[in-house]
Amino acid sequence: MHTLLLLGLIVAVAGSASAELYEGDKVLRLTAENDLHLQFLRNVSHTGKAELWHPHSIDLVTTEKAMDFRVAADWVSDIQAELEKIGLKYEILTENLQILIENQFDRIRTRSFSYDYSSYHNWDQIESWTATIAKENPNLISRLVIGQSYEGRNIYLLQVGKRTGSPKPAIFMDCGTHAREWISPAFCQWFVKEAVRTYGTRSPLNSIVNEMDFLVIPVVNVDGYVYSWTEDRLWRKTRSKNFNSDCVGTDPNRNFNAEWCTSGSSRNPCSSIYCGPYAESEKEVKAVADFIRNHSSVIKAYLTIHSYAQKCLFPYSYTYSLAFNDNELANLAQNAVQALKSLYGTEYTFGSGSSSMYLASGGSDDWAYDLGIKYSFTFELRDTGKYGFLLPETQIRPTCEETMLAINYIATYVLNHLY
Ligand code: ARG
Ligand code: ZN
Repeated sequence: MHTLLLLGLIVAVAGSASAELYEGDKVLRLTAENDLHLQFLRNVSHTGKAELWHPHSIDLVTTEKAMDFRVAADWVSDIQAELEKIGLKYEILTENLQILIENQFDRIRTRSFSYDYSSYHNWDQIESWTATIAKENPNLISRLVIGQSYEGRNIYLLQVGKRTGSPKPAIFMDCGTHAREWISPAFCQWFVKEAVRTYGTRSPLNSIVNEMDFLVIPVVNVDGYVYSWTEDRLWRKTRSKNFNSDCVGTDPNRNFNAEWCTSGSSRNPCSSIYCGPYAESEKEVKAVADFIRNHSSVIKAYLTIHSYAQKCLFPYSYTYSLAFNDNELANLAQNAVQALKSLYGTEYTFGSGSSSMYLASGGSDDWAYDLGIKYSFTFELRDTGKYGFLLPETQIRPTCEETMLAINYIATYVLNHLY
């Protein structure tokens, strides 16, 4: 009784703390058609009046590619006027960002508190969930602490797989690298729940967990995740303090040691794609990298779950050069997204990160691949921008169900192609 009451209070506080930051902000989708358009977009990004909603280096933005920008309330009318003037066509994706955010928190505040995989959960709830699910399923799940975050929170890893007494090949999967991508931790929780639910049945997932281990980190960037619940719903980075700057945090997916801080990342601590002072400077990144290094002989595949874009990406992102098994990865990705689509018709694209999204160095997928894990994928889950990071809870179940099909496909393939 007491815990429930307390949880309710915490959630209510979390909901209100995020207020006002985005009042009147709009999200616009536009496609530059010429150099004048590009120049305009670069200029507004540098002034901070508008920010690329899906962050990447503005200097790499090209024509003919749709881009979503968050436009600060004070500048909405100026920017709209300017867009009309230069003939840059746009679509309004979100009329008032604050309202979208508050709606999400309102629903969370008013629902019941039983553990529900179709809801978003705050860190306290997820942390106690990791303990409970491991305790209730001792032959299938064990919980490890692989390190602490900058602010001192534990980073948990759930080892999901039937205990056989001998070492098994493993698939590593992490979620919650970027704080605001709430569907990602929701998916890792869903995955573990499904492994428990289908255990001992004649299901594809059961065959997989009989013969392999899944090493699942439900939330990598715990400090950022907490901050996205309490202070800023759209926070992306870690929460580490930066030397000589008031801006906080490093982009964990620019902080891995894969051509660190070259293309598609920033040396500016205020940037949302700040690469950090050196590779693996972030405790969360170091913890993940150390764990993978220490278990690299058993880890046969690396999966990292992000949102949003509906894409299945594979190396490389730091270069346009092709991975040595590019053909195999492309085939695998194609079949995975086809399996995903079979359930609800959700369309995913696939390809190397650099060709299908943007050049970006320091990513975990490229790093794991160069370490020798030849099946390495980034999933960008729903949607394609209607709600973006604010994907409604009603989409958790269908998103997770369809994503399970893609993950099962890849896992089965890996199991049949051990190396
Ligand atoms: N949206 C992800 C990011 O910006 C894409 C990651 C793709 N992989 C990469 N190494 N950049 O982090
Ligand atoms: Zn991300």
